[in-house]
Amino acid sequence: MTNENKILVLDFGSQYTQLIARRIRECNVYSEIFPFNASFEKIKSFNPKGVILSGSPSSVYDNNAPIPDKMIFKLGIPILGICYGMQLMAHLWGGKVARAPRREYGRSELIIDDDSDLLNGIGEKLKTQNSKFKTIVWMSHGDMIDRCPKDFIPIAHTSNSPVAAMANYKKGFYALQFHPEVAHTEKGIDILKNFLFKVCRCSPTWTMKSFIDTVTQEIREKVIDNKVVCGISGGVDSSVTAVLVHKAVKNQLTCIFVDNGFLRAGEAEKVEETLRRHFHMDIKCIDAAKRFLNKLKGVVDPELKRKIIGNEFIKVFESEAKKIREVKFLAQGTLYPDVIESIPFKGPSAIIKSHHNVGGLLKRMKLKLIEPLRELFKDEVRLLGKELGIPDEIINRHPFPGPGLAIRIIGEVTHERCNILRRADSIVLQEIKKAGLYEELWQAFAILLPVKSVGVMGDERTYENVIAVRAVKSLDGMTADWARLPYDVLEIISNRIINEVKGINRVVYDISSKPPSTIEWE
Ligand code: XMP
Repeated sequence: MTNENKILVLDFGSQYTQLIARRIRECNVYSEIFPFNASFEKIKSFNPKGVILSGSPSSVYDNNAPIPDKMIFKLGIPILGICYGMQLMAHLWGGKVARAPRREYGRSELIIDDDSDLLNGIGEKLKTQNSKFKTIVWMSHGDMIDRCPKDFIPIAHTSNSPVAAMANYKKGFYALQFHPEVAHTEKGIDILKNFLFKVCRCSPTWTMKSFIDTVTQEIREKVIDNKVVCGISGGVDSSVTAVLVHKAVKNQLTCIFVDNGFLRAGEAEKVEETLRRHFHMDIKCIDAAKRFLNKLKGVVDPELKRKIIGNEFIKVFESEAKKIREVKFLAQGTLYPDVIESIPFKGPSAIIKSHHNVGGLLKRMKLKLIEPLRELFKDEVRLLGKELGIPDEIINRHPFPGPGLAIRIIGEVTHERCNILRRADSIVLQEIKKAGLYEELWQAFAILLPVKSVGVMGDERTYENVIAVRAVKSLDGMTADWARLPYDVLEIISNRIINEVKGINRVVYDISSKPPSTIEWE
């Protein structure tokens, strides 16, 4: 992305690294994350206006402590160290880092001793000393700065950390022991803004409108007069990708929507209608439900189901894509968190369950990839979708797995069992929306269990299936907590499913978090 107002975040493995980059972007400044050991050439050619060194689970005294190329300190641009980043700066510049007498986690009162630039305008005046200010910050550290390095001065302290912030004004180096990127640091965003605008002298030019202009121009230059194909699933990422590419190359784009028969109620129709009627896009809708069901006959193993569905998708997609003459590009909705090459904490889900992989398809069809969202976080994709005029119903849609309802039918997937689950799932979503809870949940859905239980309806004994309801809160799907849904909402969901969905006589609620469970059951 060509933009001269850029900040580089060097990742030392902190759980908050992505949050730092997102906060900077929220201030309308473009930011990228590189691994701590990125080469100096790569860093230099990125041409940032400032660098932020993230936190880390490591201590600077560990044998394998992550250390960046020290040439970054010779770039002549401001550098801000956060937590481990601060300790690293102190360590490298001759200060002293020591184990804190007490580990400091959570809220802490910061007293600002020097409010020249980074901490300018932060906090409220101390009653006792008129020239000093205080504010609440969020700490999470075991090591602390015992002695400031040469040419640095302390600019803030807490009762536990004599040097909670320090600066070397001559070089433009700053460091914070606390985390300005987390919401619990009351004026965190203002501190970051001071770094961006007062220290690095960035301009707030990163907006969704500017992103659309730049990216559509880049797509046009890359594609020229060739054809592009894009697979759409009904989810926000593929819909936004398709609309963005369409804005750039209009009819050179063909979208392929493979209906595998495992979609939620009304989903295929809604997506088709929106993209075709609203955006006038060329969409091929392929009803492949029978084909997928046939392949899954007798299959109960979750991984095997996923592999079969993934392979079948590629086959259907490829045979349709081949019908488009002279197609050269495949557009895909890859997001930034998937491409960050950091010292990984990727969470278990990427490894535990197999996802679709289009690598083989690209090679066989000699296609080149276009990934216009690869610089964006999920919430930015939603903003982009809004800016492009995509209806909220699609933009705010809960995530949905590629293999769809098939991995929410435990045991064999049959036409009848798909229909039972689709009806139950639709009731769950209707009631969650009616209760005004949809937006605050990451996902809410039903699962059909391979278990029958005894019930009584009227005077009749029944022996029918069980539906599990799952609703979770999560920020990124990597970890999740089961949602404390109100009992009366659960009651309506249960009553409606048992009364309206033939074949179900019992509903249970899943109260497991991730980890140790996963969000999906298969
Ligand atoms: P788990 O079950 O691993 O799910 O906790 C984490 C998130 O990923 C979604 N998910 C998928 N998304 N293709 C996708 O596009 C898949 O195969 C897939 N499997 C799980 C899941 O819905 C949750 O949001």
